[in-house]
Amino acid sequence: MPGMSAILVTGGAGFIGSNFTRYVIDHTEHTVTVLDALTYAGNVASLDGLPADRFRFVKGSVGDAALVDSLVAENELVVHFAAESHNDNSLNDPSPFIQTNLIGTYELLQAVRKHDRRFHHISTEEVYGDLELDDPGKFSEATPYNPSSPYSASKAGSDLLVRAWVRSFGVRATISNCSNNYGPYQHVEKFIPRQITNVIDGIRPKLYGAGLNVRDWIHVDDHNAAVLRIIEAGTIGETYLIGADGEENNKTVIELILAAMGQPIDAYDHVNDRPGHDLRYAIDATRLRTELGWEPRYRNFAQGLDATIEWYRANQDWWRPMKQATEAKYAKTGQ
Ligand code: NAD
Ligand code: TYD
Repeated sequence: MPGMSAILVTGGAGFIGSNFTRYVIDHTEHTVTVLDALTYAGNVASLDGLPADRFRFVKGSVGDAALVDSLVAENELVVHFAAESHNDNSLNDPSPFIQTNLIGTYELLQAVRKHDRRFHHISTEEVYGDLELDDPGKFSEATPYNPSSPYSASKAGSDLLVRAWVRSFGVRATISNCSNNYGPYQHVEKFIPRQITNVIDGIRPKLYGAGLNVRDWIHVDDHNAAVLRIIEAGTIGETYLIGADGEENNKTVIELILAAMGQPIDAYDHVNDRPGHDLRYAIDATRLRTELGWEPRYRNFAQGLDATIEWYRANQDWWRPMKQATEAKYAKTGQ
């Protein structure tokens, strides 16, 4: 999609969507309209400083059919990030996950179908379930869906809705399933920012269970560069996996954070494990690399973590308002 076009970004006040909006403004000529309900996870401050002639914010829900219809009509492309995104929350109350991730995606699909707009659906590798710790395999586009939690099941369902709207109604859509992201503007409920902000506050990091679970980390800008590449050159109806070969177990990540922040590497606590906790995620991104020529720019995880730690140190006004309520929520489940 060279030149200038009008993009509707749902969930653009969240972690990945706000970084995507900045990335698009910095690297393309497109204009962006963000549609975001500003749930506990959304923060307009994540969009501060964007130029008024290329950026507009609309507060509202992807479940609001009339609003979605009018915004989709005004734009050429929809990039759909809006979701309830946290596994632990989905275990405590699945209801908003069904509403936003399934019904919200349905409303968007009906609108892009009606107005014949290009759609890109942002999803997760978690739709594939998990891998054994000693399994040499990785997820690929051919892996069968096998989600574990209400969150991953709702995302899996939304992916299948997109596929059905492509096949049955000719909707021009692509899907991407990415591994765990890290970087600036990530909510302090998530693993990496929770531990960094804990250490800043003199609280010991919290490791679920033995901490041997493996996640495949990717910097949020590498994810967003891949999304832009798929929008520009991806094949309609196809799914692309996004990952940067960043496998680390959780214990190692906590040790890296503690070391980078000048603390003893064993200064953390083991807390209650997550029910149904997925063991290992790993992405084979060969298709994205070979067919679309994408390569990650952040190849050194320790350096990427250092930059992220610096960002949380320098932006305490951004995260402090949500820290206490987040920790109070975790205290209820002994995590
Ligand atoms: P996030 O929780 O930080 O942000 C979600 C945003 O969606 C928030 O701004 C929230 O206000 C908004 N939102 C929620 N319900 C809404 C509704 N009904 N209508 C409009 N807006 C609504 O999440 P994130 O980490 O930025 O994830 C964004 C997307 O990327 C999600 O679809 C998620 O499944 C996917 N994803 C995330 C990761 C990750 O590591 N965080 C990895 C792969 C895929
Ligand atoms: P999270 O950031 O919630 O992402 P996801 O569930 O999508 O992988 O968690 C990443 C990993 O870190 C996951 O294995 C759970 C673990 N974890 C902890 O050990 N301690 C914590 O405080 C949190 C929030 C997560």
